[in-house]
Amino acid sequence: MKKVLVLNGPNLGRLGSREPDIYGSIDYAGLQVSVTARALELGLIAEVRQTNSESELISWIYEAADESLDVIMNPAAFTHYSYALRDAAVLITKAGQSLIEVHLSNPHTREEFRHTSVISGVATGVIAGFGVDSYHLALAQLA
Ligand code: DQA
Repeated sequence: MKKVLVLNGPNLGRLGSREPDIYGSIDYAGLQVSVTARALELGLIAEVRQTNSESELISWIYEAADESLDVIMNPAAFTHYSYALRDAAVLITKAGQSLIEVHLSNPHTREEFRHTSVISGVATGVIAGFGVDSYHLALAQLA
């Protein structure tokens, strides 16, 4: 079965207690279980990871590039300003692998600073606003 990295950026480890009106009541462990299970139904192995560190997230992108893995990434707040993450993401898409940017909420309906994504321009595609289903839809696309 094809392996996919599902990478989550800062503060997503606090799902469930963090602004549930925006991000829903599912906690991070629940998201991991849900995404892993859906992947298996689609014939994929999803490795779901979360970090608050930009450096660690970039090192995981390198890992995906080196192992020719597709990536589903919720860059969280890094979405809006991390040129370093964008430069790393290019390694995936320029190599012909897929990088799907996902968001639980729809950032375009929220504060102005969330309307900009420095990642979208180098992503294969973007899925936002469907809660955990944003991840499920990305998995379906990769499958
Ligand atoms: C988010 C949206 C971002 O603006 C925010 O910083 C996050 C989560 C989402 O999944 O909706 O941490 O990426």
